[in-house]
Amino acid sequence: MALLISVSEFWEDEKVWRQFVQAELPDIDVRVYPDDGDVNEIKYAAVWKHPHGILKKYPNLKAILSLGAGVDHILSDPDLPKDLPIVRLVDVKLTHEMCFHALHWVLHFHSDHYLYMNQQLDKKWLQHGSIQPEDRSVGIMGLGNIGKGIGTSLVSQGFKVLGWGASQKSSLGDIKYFFGDEQLGDFLGKTNILINVLPLTKDTTNLLGKQELQCLPRGSFIINMGRGGIVNETDLLSLLDEGHITAAAMDVFEQEPLPANNPLWSHPSVYITPHIAGQSNPKSSAKTIAENIYRIEDDKLPFPIYNINKGY
Ligand code: GLV
Repeated sequence: MALLISVSEFWEDEKVWRQFVQAELPDIDVRVYPDDGDVNEIKYAAVWKHPHGILKKYPNLKAILSLGAGVDHILSDPDLPKDLPIVRLVDVKLTHEMCFHALHWVLHFHSDHYLYMNQQLDKKWLQHGSIQPEDRSVGIMGLGNIGKGIGTSLVSQGFKVLGWGASQKSSLGDIKYFFGDEQLGDFLGKTNILINVLPLTKDTTNLLGKQELQCLPRGSFIINMGRGGIVNETDLLSLLDEGHITAAAMDVFEQEPLPANNPLWSHPSVYITPHIAGQSNPKSSAKTIAENIYRIEDDKLPFPIYNINKGY
């Protein structure tokens, strides 16, 4: 039995992945694409942005495991073998990294560091009064593992935290929860710093266009760190130019890598990182992947499995 690893050209470490996954699965031959050997032996594929079309080469594939939190990179393969379980990755290290990324930008905006960075360019010494965290609302869109983790860490720093998701949820402790289309405007209207960690699905594509982003109070900030394609980038740029939105920290984009001629690169109020907010950790993820493979081999369901109705 063999497991195939295939990672994107923008990940440097496929050999490291192989080493950790192999250590967790000593009885399975772990191979790295394109060195797949006998294709009949491949029972599992663990992938991050694999070359589309390759998975249909393996007739005995039992499951596809994502090496990242999202599975949109798998679903976008037009030649995806049908009816195989697709397993998402929930990893504490990745959640922790996402919390750090969110906290970094929340503090950058909340504590006026974006202003002081610009002042330094002009050698300008000017102190801005501080706002208390309880007077600042951070609104999180997407309240799965990652969104809840971010919310909890911001609550512990004293911020007022709101959340929005597609469907109703039971109690979320100190996070005031809004849901569904009807409550989106109300949620946005109460948000000073918006964090987007929604998955990209047919329902979330282009969810935040001009009309929605205008519901944010004037002077708001955006931290876009789930998936591109949810915030409409053209509308965001025009609201930044109008000053309705003060600044945006963008880690994910409609098109990745972000093309050199995209105006976001050089906008003075946009901060760009190359989709690094939550990088999968090979050591801890390998354990989760191995647990899921043992579950499938024991005829149990892996967790969490992609749900076609929810779209993630
Ligand atoms: C990163 O974007 C991931 O889905 O893990």
